[in-house]
Parts: sequence; C-alpha cells; structure tokens
Amino acid sequence: MLKMLSQLIFLLAIGLAAANSDRALNITYNGFRSANLSLDGKAEFTCSGLLKLTNGTEQEKGHAFYPNPITFRNSSSSNASAASFSTTFVFAIIPQYPTLGGDGIVFVLSPTRGLPGSLPSQWLGLFNDTTNGNSNHVIGVELDTILNSEFGDINDNHVGIDINSLHSNVSAPASYLVDNSTDHRNLTLISGKPMRAWIEYDGNQKRMNVTIAPVDIGKPKIPLLSLSIDLSPIIKETMYVGFSSSTGSILSTHYILGWSFAINGPAQDLIISQLPKIPPTGPKRVSKHLTIWLHIIMVTTVSVMASGLFYVVRRKRKFAEELADWESDYGPHRFRYKDLYFSTRGFADKQLLGTGGFGRVYRGTLPTSKIEIAVKRVSHESRQGMREFVAEIVSIGRLRHRNLVPFLGYCRRKGELLLVYDYMPNGSLDKFIYDQPKCTLSWSQRFRVIQGVASCLFYLHEEWEQVVIHRDIKASNVLLDADFNGRVGDFGLARLYDHGTDPQTTHVVGTLGYLAPEHTRNGKATSSTDVFAFGAFLLEVVCGRRPIDLKASAEDVILVDMAFSNWSRGELFRVVDPKLGGDYDPDQVEMVLKLGLLCSNSEPKDRPTMRQSLQYLEGVLPLPDLSSLCHSSGGLAFANRERFVSREGFSDFAMSYASSLNQGFSHSSSITESIISEGG
Ligand SMILES: *[C@@H]1O[C@H](CO)[C@@H](O)[C@H](O)[C@H]1NC(C)=O
Ligand SMILES: *[C@@H]1O[C@H](CO)[C@@H](O)[C@H](O)[C@H]1NC(C)=O
Ligand SMILES: *[C@@H]1O[C@H](CO)[C@@H](O)[C@H](O)[C@H]1NC(C)=O
Ligand SMILES: *[C@@H]1O[C@H](CO)[C@@H](O)[C@H](O)[C@H]1NC(C)=O
Ligand SMILES: *[C@@H]1O[C@H](CO)[C@@H](O)[C@H](O)[C@H]1NC(C)=O
Ligand SMILES: *[C@@H]1O[C@H](CO)[C@@H](O)[C@H](O)[C@H]1NC(C)=O
Ligand SMILES: *[C@@H]1O[C@H](CO)[C@@H](O)[C@H](O)[C@H]1NC(C)=O
Ligand SMILES: *[C@@H]1O[C@H](CO)[C@@H](O)[C@H](O)[C@H]1NC(C)=O
Ligand SMILES: *[C@@H]1O[C@H](CO)[C@@H](O)[C@H](O)[C@H]1NC(C)=O
Ligand SMILES: *[C@@H]1O[C@H](CO)[C@@H](O)[C@H](O)[C@H]1NC(C)=O
Repeated sequence: MLKMLSQLIFLLAIGLAAANSDRALNITYNGFRSANLSLDGKAEFTCSGLLKLTNGTEQEKGHAFYPNPITFRNSSSSNASAASFSTTFVFAIIPQYPTLGGDGIVFVLSPTRGLPGSLPSQWLGLFNDTTNGNSNHVIGVELDTILNSEFGDINDNHVGIDINSLHSNVSAPASYLVDNSTDHRNLTLISGKPMRAWIEYDGNQKRMNVTIAPVDIGKPKIPLLSLSIDLSPIIKETMYVGFSSSTGSILSTHYILGWSFAINGPAQDLIISQLPKIPPTGPKRVSKHLTIWLHIIMVTTVSVMASGLFYVVRRKRKFAEELADWESDYGPHRFRYKDLYFSTRGFADKQLLGTGGFGRVYRGTLPTSKIEIAVKRVSHESRQGMREFVAEIVSIGRLRHRNLVPFLGYCRRKGELLLVYDYMPNGSLDKFIYDQPKCTLSWSQRFRVIQGVASCLFYLHEEWEQVVIHRDIKASNVLLDADFNGRVGDFGLARLYDHGTDPQTTHVVGTLGYLAPEHTRNGKATSSTDVFAFGAFLLEVVCGRRPIDLKASAEDVILVDMAFSNWSRGELFRVVDPKLGGDYDPDQVEMVLKLGLLCSNSEPKDRPTMRQSLQYLEGVLPLPDLSSLCHSSGGLAFANRERFVSREGFSDFAMSYASSLNQGFSHSSSITESIISEGG
C-alpha cells in the first residue's frame, strides 16, 4: 500500500517535471473572473472580470504578472536558444479627456515579477532613470499614448518593441494592414474601444512580430512590427510574463479583457463573446468644436502654469537659505542670499578674489548701499556646532578697531555658510612680502602694518569686553586697506573667553609654524599662543619668507631657528628680506627681529604680552636684554620647536599648513575644520 503510494508520488513527480520542461505552457484567460495573477501597484480585478491596471489616480503604476516563472530555455543544453512564444490579448484604454490620455500599456517579459524601482508616467512602470538602458533582461511591447521625445517616441499613439530600454528598437503608429491591400488603417489607442494585439517570437527564425487590430476583425496577415532579433541573450532561463501600465499627470484607465500565452506554439484564440464588457465611458457627449477648444485652452493653461511653477520653484530653490529660530537675534547680521547672489553677479568667476583650501572669496557690491564687500563661501558638512559658531561670528562682528577687517554679516544655506566682510582693495599682506619681488612693501609700510597688528591684538586680548583669541595670526590673514594699513581678518578660528576665566581645552587648530608648542600639548588657546604666532608673523614680515620653508637648506627650514642662530653669531641683519634692498631703519629692524624671537620663546611665561609688545614697538619701553633670556633657556626653547614639528601630530596640521602654502588669498583658513573638530 505504502509502496504503491510512493510509486504514485514518484510517477506524479515525473509527470510534473515532464510537464514543466517538455509540454508547452498554455495559459488562457477569457476574462479574469477566476484568475490568479500577481498584482501590484494600482492593478486590480473588477467584479466583472476585467483586469484594471491603473485606477484613475495620477502618477501611479500597476503590474499584473502570471504568478509562476515560465521556462524559456531548455536547461539540459547550456547554449540552447530562447524558446518561441506567442501571446494575444484584448485591451482597452479609456482616457480622462476624449483626446488626451496617458501613459500606456506594456506587455512584459521580465526576470522579476514586480519590476522593482520602476517609475510611473513615461517610465510605464518598467524602468527608472538608472535601470533604463541597462541589461535588465526586460522585453516589452509598448502601446504608448504619450509622445516622450526623451525616448525617441514617434508620436502619441504608437506601438513599439522595447528591449532593456524605453528607447524602442522599432516602433510604428498604431495601425493595421487590411489583408488584401497595402493601406494602413489607423487605430486610436485611447479610443476606449477594445482592441486585440498579437505578439509572436519565433526562436528558429529569430524574429518577433507584433500585430494589432480592432477586436471585431481577425488577425491581419501582415504584422505591424516585424523585428529580426535573437532574444536568446536577453531571455533568461525563466522569466515572468505579464503587463505593466502607468499614468502620468493626465489619466487613462487601462484594461485587459482577456489574455492567452503559449510557449513553443500558437497562443489559444480568445473567445471574444466571453470577454467582460468595459464600463460605459460616461455621458461625455461633447461637441467636436468644444472638445478642440477645451483641448487648446487646457494645454495653454497647463503650459502657462507649468512654466510659471517651474520659474517659481527654480527661483525659490536657487535662493533658498536656512533660518533657524535662534538666528532671529542676529537679524542685522544676516544677509539675504539673493542680495549676495546679485552683488557678486551670481558668484561669477570674474568676481573671484581667491581660492583657499576651505572656500572661495568673491568680490561684490551690495545693491542698495553700494558698499564693496568680500564674500567667503565655506562649505560645512557638519551642522553640529553651527549655532555656537554663528553666535561667535556675530559677537566678533561687534568688534571695532581700525586694524580689523570689518565683518558685516553672514548667510546660511544648506551645506554652505557665507561670510561677508568689507572689501580690502589691496588684498593680503603675504602677496606683497612673498610673491611680488617688484611691488614689495617698504620697511616703513611693513613697520606700520606690524604696529597695526600689534595694536589690534592688544585690543582683542585686553581692551574688548571679552578675551578674543584669534588663533590664526599670519601674514596671509592680514589684509591691506586702501592706505596699506594692516587689518587683521579671518576670525574663522577665533575663540572668546570672559576676562579672568581659564581658557577651555579645544582641538588644536591653526597653521603649522605659528602654533605654540604648549598649545599642541595641552590644547589650550591662550593669549600667549597668539603672541607666539605674532612672533612668527614678525619674523616673516622682516625676513620676507614663511616660518617653515621646506625648500630652504636643512638648517634654515625653520625661520626662528635661522634667525636665532644668526643672532647668536651676531649676524642678525643677514636674515632681513633682500627685497628691501638694504633700505630700512636698522634699529627698528633689530628691535622687531628681537621681539619676534622673544615672542617665539617656547616657554609661554617668558613671552611678552601684547601690551608689552605694543609698548616695545612704539618705543615706550626698551626691549629687555635678549641675551640673558636666551642664554638660560633660549637655545633649548627653540630646539623644542623642532621636536614638536617632527612629533606625530604633524599630520594633523599638514592640511592647514598645506592650505596656507597654497592659498592666494587670505580669507582661506580653516573654518570648516573648526566646525568639524569642535562641533561635538
Ligand atoms: C531539451 O534538450 C534535450 C537535449 O538537448 C532534448 O532531448 C529535449 O527534447 C529538449 N527539450 C525540449 C522541451 O526542447
Ligand atoms: C495563486 O498563485 C500563487 C502562486 O502560484 C499561489 O501561492 C496561490 O495559492 C494561488 N492562489 C489561488 C487562489 O489559487
Ligand atoms: C484608486 O485606488 C486607491 C487605493 O489604492 C483609492 O483610494 C482610489 O479611490 C482609487 N481611485 C479610483 C478612481 O478608483
Ligand atoms: C552550442 O552552440 C554551438 C554553435 O552555436 C553548437 O555547435 C553546439 O553544438 C551547441 N552545443 C550544445 C550543447 O547545444
Ligand atoms: C531604480 O531601480 C533600481 C532597482 O530597483 C534601484 O536600485 C535604483 O535605486 C532605482 N533608481 C532610482 C533613481 O529610483
Ligand atoms: C535593440 O536591441 C538590442 C538588443 O538586441 C539593444 O542592444 C539595442 O540597444 C537596441 N537598440 C535600440 C535603438 O534601442
Ligand atoms: C478586400 O477584402 C474585402 C473583404 O475583406 C473585400 O470586400 C474587398 O472587395 C477586397 N478588395 C480587393 C481589392 O480585393
Ligand atoms: C494615419 O496616421 C499617420 C501617422 O499618425 C498619418 O500620417 C496618416 O495620415 C493617418 N492616416 C489616416 C488615413 O488617417
Ligand atoms: C512574422 O512576419 C513575417 C512576415 O512579415 C512572417 O514571414 C513570419 O513568419 C512572422 N513570424 C512569426 C513568428 O509570426
Ligand atoms: C494551447 O491550447 C490551444 C487550444 O487548446 C491549442 O490550439 C494550442 O496549440 C496550444 N498551444 C500550445 C503551445 O500547446
């Protein structure tokens, strides 16, 4: 008994396997009343047995697939070509307006049942931007009722064969040939009338034919489309077959009334009388003239509205900026992006003043006040810390000193921060002392710049309501106004403290060569770390070279060391910038160089304050004797510096160092760096 049963099961299994591979598949649906198709999107069966692929909702798609995969290849031979197949179906497309509809129906062969990622509208539920044109192994026959020139459509009423792409391999206006003539009879796909389609592929001839005709006449002998193609590379061993349809902003309802499909043989004829009826299309008996007028009016209105909307949306997006609640306090300091955009002529390349590692600076003129401005665009990925950052920027905006670049305000956009400064006609100091041998600054101009920077730093450290640590004093951050007065700019890294409080530990930022050794050790930016940078700045202005010059001979790479060794040999004047041509006041130069060395002391407590430095520079106080200081600790102090440079921390600063080497303009230090490293 048991044995018989197992034998029976065995036989059944063999039979099933045989049915799968040998006997041709033959599916027929004369109406879908009891059909078991796999539906998704808006596809549904109506109670009358219609397959309704789209339901009258805009921008939707619908899919209906035969639920099981169909074998198109003989798996027992590896390179067997794709099997022949044949299908016929009856469809009807009922448009929303008598002469406008969208978007169409596609008969599909696909390796997947749902066509994942596919889009509605012109994509017909088949593909999306990325999948269109890839080797998706998708074959479609489209009944397309919209003209999409992006896919090379010929008109808004055509039939096409699509292989892996909505760019049809072959297409023709919807029509059929009467058997005994050569005349094409046109068909209107969106007429709402049922029509029949036949699709055949002959695996031996490697030819695919598509034919359509009204439902009440037989199959025309001559196909509408006949494409010679070998589908073997496109058809996978098993494929799903079914329909896809979509709507755009103009609607149609897409119906399939009946469908048959067969492999390796002709598909069964549908029995027209058994097919369900399409619902009445409603009492739309409108006169032809009215229709045409309606059509024209609608198209005009739609296009006017669309272009209006397009303009508004584009404009809105172009000038979009971000405004958080906390920013309402900073009203006067906020600029409108639109104003900045127009003042810099749309950030045109012609307005570009300079490019640094962290942003570009544009020159502009404010539309109403005609004030000349410099706008720095800084990208910021990290939102963290933005609030604190803007708060500080705004406090810094309240600083007033004749040797400060006036900060006018800012604007925040998605991923971008724009900082607005007064325009400084002569650009940054470094250009004059490094780059232009002809047009260098005289000693008296340099001395005035040095005094200006010193007085500005004294103001920042001691005279303002809070202590402001600039953290990035260097020649490229000193700008020159029309009268060649030095003005400290770029407060991107600046920190504020209340007087009398201890500075908090922060991430180390700044530019290599100007960073005080203790700052890299304890992470505290203090006024004496600014003094250290000021020392490096003094030396660079007198010597006309950068604090670290990798191109110099080994013992001269570090400017302080070079200056120190020359001083100890009594040859201090050898380091003075040759571009000055010996035309300088030797007492002033000696004093500035010695002050530079004093400020560069690695021991913070041995550095002068800015108040003292200013007094030395103004000749109010005599400079202390350098030799006593340096004999005790100086040599060691400067040696520390080399150690610090070669410490592992080097790579951290390499970026800002490189940016300071490359930049053409001052406004380019590391704002983003400070946001990122100090946000959290
Ligand atoms: C599949 O191929 C094998 C050998 O190549 C052949 O014997 C068999 O009949 C083929 N089956 C079908 C369904 O073509
Ligand atoms: C429909 O087909 C699927 C897949 O073959 C099957 O799982 C499901 O049971 C079928 N449903 C009906 C009602 O026949
Ligand atoms: C289409 O289907 C959605 C639900 O999928 C339904 O909310 C909507 O009313 C339907 N529209 C029509 C015209 O039947
Ligand atoms: C594979 O194809 C080649 C030529 O197309 C034919 O010579 C060879 O017999 C085929 N192999 C099988 C297993 O069908
Ligand atoms: C397109 O569809 C593919 C497959 O599902 C998907 O990976 C991709 O993200 C989609 N692309 C777009 C632009 O929707
Ligand atoms: C036609 O089909 C082939 C696949 O055989 C495809 O590679 C090619 O891109 C298609 N041509 C056009 C114009 O779509
Ligand atoms: C073409 O066939 C139709 C019937 O299908 C017939 O009425 C007509 O006379 C035929 N015309 C010619 C030129 O044979
Ligand atoms: C059929 O349609 C084609 C293209 O749409 C057009 O050129 C032709 O004039 C139409 N023929 C008739 C008889 O309307
Ligand atoms: C396709 O049509 C041509 C005539 O245009 C015919 O010779 C061929 O047999 C047809 N092929 C199929 C698979 O029906
Ligand atoms: C499918 O069935 C119909 C009618 O039963 C028959 O005429 C046709 O040849 C069959 N097709 C295949 C491929 O077996």
